[in-house]
Amino acid sequence: MASPNGRPGPDLSVSFAGIPLKNPVIAASGTFGYGVEFEDVVHLDKLGGFVVKGLSKEPMAGNPPPRLYETPAGMLNAIGLQNIGARAFLSEKLPRLRELKNIVVIANVFGYTREDYETTIEILNEGEGIAAYELNVSCPNTAQGGMQFGCDPRALDEVVATARHRSQRPLIVKLSPNVTSIAQMARIAEEAGADALSLVNTFTAMAIDAETRKPRISNVTAGLSGPAIKPIALRMVYDASKAVKIPILGMGGISTAVDIIEFMLAGATAVQIGTASYWDPCATEKIVDELQDWCVQHKIGRLSELTSGMMID
Ligand SMILES: Cc1cc2nc3c(=O)[nH]c(=O)nc-3n(C[C@H](O)[C@H](O)[C@H](O)COP(=O)(O)O)c2cc1C
Repeated sequence: MASPNGRPGPDLSVSFAGIPLKNPVIAASGTFGYGVEFEDVVHLDKLGGFVVKGLSKEPMAGNPPPRLYETPAGMLNAIGLQNIGARAFLSEKLPRLRELKNIVVIANVFGYTREDYETTIEILNEGEGIAAYELNVSCPNTAQGGMQFGCDPRALDEVVATARHRSQRPLIVKLSPNVTSIAQMARIAEEAGADALSLVNTFTAMAIDAETRKPRISNVTAGLSGPAIKPIALRMVYDASKAVKIPILGMGGISTAVDIIEFMLAGATAVQIGTASYWDPCATEKIVDELQDWCVQHKIGRLSELTSGMMID
């Protein structure tokens, strides 16, 4: 099949917030290390891109174990945002990533106060080779009493406006699904200056061992991800995409090419794959091949045309 760009095969490329991606498959933050750790198992240049582990202004040790627990069709995690810090990312990881050609690196940023986000972005602005920032607003806002930034409309507005002001790169705001109206939060992020949205982060959840009567995760509560959350994530991407004009990165339980097609039909321009990399470290790359085959089988010349293409009778 000849693609619209003249090359053989379907055209999988998408343009996301001004960033050209060779395909819509992006590895999700916290499930793909800093990219370099996957260099030997995945051809990084085959992916649309990858989002590095959440970065803070200082290094963080994270929570004590147990931090992961497998559930039916899903996974609980409370890693506690362990990371080497933004400065060490620039000096220890980014130089290697810059040697790799033809890859798109997105830096995930988090903080506990607005100033934390500001400082981390200022540090990262100094680094070359970062395509965009993804702002994780799902951490407790300690300056305002522990409510997550992403669950409080005013805090969300403030943190996005601050980040927009500091950021020298496209700003993707990663929304928390632990809200009543994802459409409202999507609109607030857009109005505060987000260039794009990504959703969903994990759902707050927990598990208890009935024998020991202890929580399965040391932090007691944790984030649920994986196929178990896919139908809810899909609905949230649909709701958000109807509420805003900026593009959406959809995620939550994607493990097959068909899942990607569903998220695109619901309104996503591109997608992220997280927990699937825990089950199969090569999942991201394999899904790109699957996507290519799916487009050939379904005579799709240009994949990007599927975005928001759900048909309702
Ligand atoms: C072990 C683990 C660590 C994660 N760490 C981060 C993180 O640092 N920052 C972030 O924004 N999201 C983080 N996430 C959330 C994922 O990026 C993704 O939003 C979520 O898992 C839903 O996608 P999935 O069902 O494909 O995993 C993490 C998820 C997992 C499973």
